[in-house]
Amino acid sequence: MSTLPTGSLEQRDARSVIHGLTNLKAHAERGAMVIERGHGVWVTDNHGKDYIEAMSGLWCIALGYGNERLANVASKQMRELAYYPLTNHKSHPRVIELAEKLKSLAPVPMSHVWFASTGSEANDCAARLAWYYWHAVGQPAKKKFIAHQLAYHGNTIATASLSGVSYAHERFNLPLPGFLHVAPPHYSRHALPGESEDEFCDRLIGDIEQLIEREGAHTIAAFFTEPVMVAGGIVVPPRAYFEKLHKLLFLNNILLIADEVVTGFGRIGEMFGTGAMQLKPDMMVCAKALSNAYIPISAVMMNTRVYEAIARQSDEMGVLGLTMTYSGHPVACAVALETLAIYEEMDIAARVRKLETPFLGGLNRLLEHPLVGEVRGKGLLAGVELMNNAESRQHFDPALKVGPRCAQIAEQHGLIVRAIGDTIAFCPPLIISEAEIEEMLARFKRALDDTARQLNLIRP
Ligand SMILES: Cc1ncc(COP(=O)(O)O)c(C=O)c1O
Repeated sequence: MSTLPTGSLEQRDARSVIHGLTNLKAHAERGAMVIERGHGVWVTDNHGKDYIEAMSGLWCIALGYGNERLANVASKQMRELAYYPLTNHKSHPRVIELAEKLKSLAPVPMSHVWFASTGSEANDCAARLAWYYWHAVGQPAKKKFIAHQLAYHGNTIATASLSGVSYAHERFNLPLPGFLHVAPPHYSRHALPGESEDEFCDRLIGDIEQLIEREGAHTIAAFFTEPVMVAGGIVVPPRAYFEKLHKLLFLNNILLIADEVVTGFGRIGEMFGTGAMQLKPDMMVCAKALSNAYIPISAVMMNTRVYEAIARQSDEMGVLGLTMTYSGHPVACAVALETLAIYEEMDIAARVRKLETPFLGGLNRLLEHPLVGEVRGKGLLAGVELMNNAESRQHFDPALKVGPRCAQIAEQHGLIVRAIGDTIAFCPPLIISEAEIEEMLARFKRALDDTARQLNLIRP
């Protein structure tokens, strides 16, 4: 029996709303955290309690809440041209401007842009466009995709298959055949005793090479990767990893697709993770911070090699058989253009590089705390891994759910973070001030202390 107050928002939510990544039964007991307002990096719940939103919602609201310029531009565009499709040779000024802008920002030459609404849709379209591309160049057997275990690429049937997370697969009849997963480039977790970073990369790339040989390069369409693994636990691959991967994919004629859904637009200290991690993708997928999450929009940028082939084939076929009602939605494009203008005015990547020191430095100082085993991150993206014994790298028994427990305690201290297993993820809005970083760290320290106290009570 639920004890949620009768008629409360919590009770009404539990009776009607389905929440993703949530235990629905526990939710009906515990009730939702109902957020009513936001300003800057702060949000306020329906009981008037303030929180620092150190997760930018779902890794997305880079300019924070309450941005008047974005609200105004959306309302102006709604009045001017609220909707227009891009099908059958139609277009409108905002989508043209946005495609040009994205191409000008891309760290590797890109030719054309396909628009969708969410990161999942954009990755899904990138996969379909990869299939279409291989048909166009006479290699239709190239159908399989490779991605990392634990990587998250979305939740359509194809992108949940691409994602290397069991919760998206089990009992959902996924992954579909032809979606292959390789070890994540997580050195501190998976290196063998005494293995250098270079040797680790060689071993992982060697395993991918063997997989390609086993499956046949002629059957593999593309490799999807995030520049930094985000939902997979904030994993920054060693320097050499992408250089070696790139050579292998080039030799085997496999497309590289960079999933920049979180790393795009300054998050890790350059405009795109592709630039920061020196990737050379054929397609780049972005979403989330593209519109500061004020309205759904995502994009797939593709290079000339891909574009020319699909354009030729669409001529043979009569049309490009890809269409979405909201592809290049004018209001979403207008908000995205204004968002990108604000990033430019703020010199957002330089700002992130400047804030990286107090942010990562402050989290690294917490290594002195008995619960903190490791801090990983880049720019304003970090993961703090809680361990039972940092020196011997002993992890907690997953049944203790130490990470989720700590994240819940952090909420009591007015701090919203996310637990990925026992890694506490931080992805604050890029507008966060140094004083707010200090406040965030202080609240997290209090949450760590309370978690340690609770654990000492339950540890044998
Ligand atoms: C790296 C990455 N790719 C794709 C997605 C899917 O984006 P969306 O939730 O907008 O469909 C996410 C979502 O968190 C993500 O983190």
